[in-house]
Amino acid sequence: MALSKKPYKGTRDFFPADKRVQDYLFEVMRRTAKSFGFEPYDGPLLEEVELYKAKSGEELINDQIYDFTDRGKRHVAIRPEMTPTVARMVAQVHRETPKPIRWFSIPNLYRYERPQRGRLREHWQFNVDIFGAPAEKGEREILQLLITLLKNFGATEKEFRVYVNHREIVDDLCSEVFKVQGETAYQLYKVIDQSKKLKPEALSEKIQALKLPAPELFQEYLALENLAELEDFLKKQKLLEKHAAFFQFINDLKELDLDRYISFDPAIVRGLDYYTGLVFEVFDLHPDNRRAICGGGAYANLLQIFNESPLPGVGFGLGDVTLTDFLKTHQLLPNFEKPENDFFLSFQTDKAELSIQKLAQALRDKGYQVITHLESLKLPKAFKLSEQKGAHVVGLLGEDEWKEKKISLKKLASKEQESFSLDEVEKMLNFYHR
Ligand code: HAM
Repeated sequence: MALSKKPYKGTRDFFPADKRVQDYLFEVMRRTAKSFGFEPYDGPLLEEVELYKAKSGEELINDQIYDFTDRGKRHVAIRPEMTPTVARMVAQVHRETPKPIRWFSIPNLYRYERPQRGRLREHWQFNVDIFGAPAEKGEREILQLLITLLKNFGATEKEFRVYVNHREIVDDLCSEVFKVQGETAYQLYKVIDQSKKLKPEALSEKIQALKLPAPELFQEYLALENLAELEDFLKKQKLLEKHAAFFQFINDLKELDLDRYISFDPAIVRGLDYYTGLVFEVFDLHPDNRRAICGGGAYANLLQIFNESPLPGVGFGLGDVTLTDFLKTHQLLPNFEKPENDFFLSFQTDKAELSIQKLAQALRDKGYQVITHLESLKLPKAFKLSEQKGAHVVGLLGEDEWKEKKISLKKLASKEQESFSLDEVEKMLNFYHR
C-alpha cells in the first residue's frame, strides 16, 4: 500500500510560502519582545511528565498530553506548553540573575486535541514571561507588550480585545460569597471557565449540580459585563477594599492609554492550575474566529515545585494558528506567495555560465541574494522565472553581450535597463539602488 503524503493529523507541512508567513510572524514577535528588553531562551521538546502533573491541570494531563516511556523507563511527554519549562529553567539561575528576569521563546507544542478552526495538535506559541517584577508592574508590562505586539501586526482596538479577570477575586467570591471550598470550588471554576460556551439550560444544570447556598449570586456574577459592575458587586459583598490594588492596576492602564483594549470578563479564569493573580485572554472581535488568540496570567508559586523560594511570574502564550486566522480575517497579513530576491542572473549562451557564477558570487559576497539558473535560458523564460522568484533585477547575457564581456541588468518594476562590464560590481549596485 502506498504511504500517505499528508502530514500526521493536526500537524502542518510548511512549504516555502507557509514558511515565509511563519518567518514574518516570528520576526514581529522577536522584534516586539526585544523592544522591551526581553531575551530569547529555549528548552527541550521532551520533559518528564511529572513537570506537568505538578501544576498544569487535569485537562492537559488526562486528555491532551503526548506521553511515552523511554528506553530508560522514564515517563516523558512532548511539551504541551512552555511555562513549566521556563519555570524549571528560571529555578536554576534566578538566585544569580538580576530581577526582573525578562525572557521569551517561540516553541512548537503538542496537544492531542480534535483538530478544528484555531485548534491543531502542533502549534507554535510565542511565550513571554517576566519573573521577579514588583507587584502589578510585571502584569502591566506584559499587557503593554501584548498590545504592542498586536499593534505591530497592524491591529487596532476595532479588531481585538483583551479580557481580564483576577484569580484572587474569584477565589474570594468562591469562599466568601458562593461558599464553596476544595473540590466544589475546583468544579465551580470549571463551570465559570465553560459558562460562555454552554447553552443556558446546560449551564443551569451544572450550577444546580453544585448545590450552591445562593446560586442567584453566582448567576449575578456571571452576568457582570464590565469593571464598573464588578466594582459594584464587590462593594455589595464588602470585598472591594481587599481588591483595591486590582482597580488601581486598571487605572494605571488608563494612564498608559491601554484601557481601550481591555474589558473585564467574569468567565475568564483559565484552565491551567498555576495561575494565582491576573488572568487574561485575547479574542478576535470577528465572529468567525471564536478561539482565544492568546492566554496568560500571573503565577506566584510555580518555582516552589522545585523547592525554590517564591518568585512571582507573569506571562502569556500566543498561538500561531489563531494569530494567522486573525491576521487573515482582517487582511493584515502581507502577501508572501512569492519569495524575494535581489538578482536573477540568466545567460542566453552556455559559454557565459562560469562568468555569471563569478559575478553572482561577487554580489553575494556584498550581501545580496542572487539566483542563477545553471542552464541557458531564452529571454521570455528568463523574465518569467525572475518574476516567480521575486527578483528585483534580471541579468541577461546573450551572444552580443558575451563578445564584449558585458551583462544587461533590467529592473523588473521600473523596466530601467543598463549594460555593465562583468567586473563592474559597484556600478551594478549603484544602478540597483538608484
Ligand atoms: P493556553 O491558553 O493553553 O496557555 O495557550 C495559549 C494560546 O496558545 C491559546 O490562546 C492559543 O492561541 C494557543 N493554543 C493553545 N492550544 C492550541 C492548539 N491546540 N492549537 C492551536 N493553538 C493553540 C498556555 O499554554 C500558558 N502556558 C501560557 C502562559 C505563558 N501563561 C503564562 N506564560
